[in-house]
Amino acid sequence: MKGVTLPTETVFVMENSPIKFGLGAMDEIGFDASRLGIRKALIFTDRHVSELGLPERVRALLEEQGVKADVWDGVEVEPTDRSMEEAGEYARSKDFDGLIAVGGGSTIDTCKAANLLTCYPAPLLDYINKPVGKGVPVPGPVRPLIAVPTTAGTGSETTAVAVTHIVDQNVKAGVSHRLLRPALGVVDPLNTLTVPPEVTAAAGADILTHAIESYTTRPYNARAKHHPPDRPAYIGANPASDIWCEKAIEYVGRYLRRAVLNGLDLEARLNLALAANYAGVGFGNAGVHIPHALGYPIAGLVRDYVPSGYRTNHALVPHGVSVVVTAPATFRFTYATSPERHLRAAELMGVPTRGLSEREAREALPGALMALMRDVGIPNGLTALGYAERDIPALVEGTLKQPRLLSGSPRSVGAAEIAAILHDSLRCW
Ligand SMILES: NC(=O)c1ccc[n+]([C@@H]2O[C@H](COP(=O)([O-])OP(=O)(O)OC[C@H]3O[C@@H](n4cnc5c(N)ncnc54)[C@H](O)[C@@H]3O)[C@@H](O)[C@H]2O)c1
Ligand SMILES: [Zn+2]
Repeated sequence: MKGVTLPTETVFVMENSPIKFGLGAMDEIGFDASRLGIRKALIFTDRHVSELGLPERVRALLEEQGVKADVWDGVEVEPTDRSMEEAGEYARSKDFDGLIAVGGGSTIDTCKAANLLTCYPAPLLDYINKPVGKGVPVPGPVRPLIAVPTTAGTGSETTAVAVTHIVDQNVKAGVSHRLLRPALGVVDPLNTLTVPPEVTAAAGADILTHAIESYTTRPYNARAKHHPPDRPAYIGANPASDIWCEKAIEYVGRYLRRAVLNGLDLEARLNLALAANYAGVGFGNAGVHIPHALGYPIAGLVRDYVPSGYRTNHALVPHGVSVVVTAPATFRFTYATSPERHLRAAELMGVPTRGLSEREAREALPGALMALMRDVGIPNGLTALGYAERDIPALVEGTLKQPRLLSGSPRSVGAAEIAAILHDSLRCW
């Protein structure tokens, strides 16, 4: 209606999982599982983490407190809808009253999905966000899930989302609902000491993009007012999420190079574990935007890129790589919407920002990102992942299937702008 201004939002929400953090935090897992009323647990993990012995250790700790537990090591790294359905089938065949995820984001997300598919059986696609899936809301409470991250990256131990690769549509998408949040996150930095450098770098890049996207996303009070039941999980940048994001950016800037260089650098591992969780709290409420929307087709349409350090023979683009390769171009594009936030993010990454010319100021954050990416061995743009100019239309089409994420962009973005950002990301430097 002409002349009528819709009211803007005045309320923001901060929701997150309770967190137990610290060296040795996992040793207390028997106590925590009992406290949450778990008597028979299913422990989910992937084969490589299983070989490290961590899930077996969790099983022994649970048994000491009288909690029975089975270990299932069938999680697929970068899970698909099929692998999540299989996890759900496995869980439905067992008798259990709580779940424990011991692994990276792939394991935690698979566990969230299996929990949902056990409590409310339906095809996973029903719950996947529109327009990829039907967007059916989670019908009610699920069983308690304790998430024990073994990477410092996704922050999935505190978020309301589970991400998957929809095989038939060649695209990544998520189930997102507050009831999916783990009942507890147990973040023990000691669990991350064995993470290979390539995984450390990709997961660290994920932390950084979560934090900077949430810091620069369209603020909550520049969005339309919601009725309480319709308020989405991602509400926009707000004074509380800013605090979590700022610390996460600072810690990644200070510690990621060190952890990639020396995996046994405990101070670096501890601060990255904190950063991952902080960014999870920040983006789990504010929400991510363009790089994550672009990251989904970049991962989904992969042809032949096989990353080192992931012990896989099949093509995959690690999530953190898929999102960070377009981050420099994105933040060049969004700079004008909040120069002070873009400069502050660069400053938190350790780049001096006083007395810069207009052009230098615009390049400060992309420059800081590229320097870090180069130092930790992130591939140089889409070309290094096997994409060329001719792939841009398909990548644009896949990105347009992420309206939930694109709506968080601080600047209006359509096919032409997405194509330009992709073009600018063919090579980052
Ligand atoms: N739910 C969320 O909020 C959220 C947020 C971001 C990303 N994600 C999803 O999470 C997944 C990525 O998770 P990730 O980056 O944590 O990695 P991951 O779980 O995919 O694991 C990556 C690799 O590291 C290995 N690994 C894990 N822990 C290890 C350890 N301690 N020592 C040695 N090797 C170890 C794994 O076996 C695997 O080979 C993607 O599917 C992504 O889409 C979810
Ligand atoms: Zn991410």
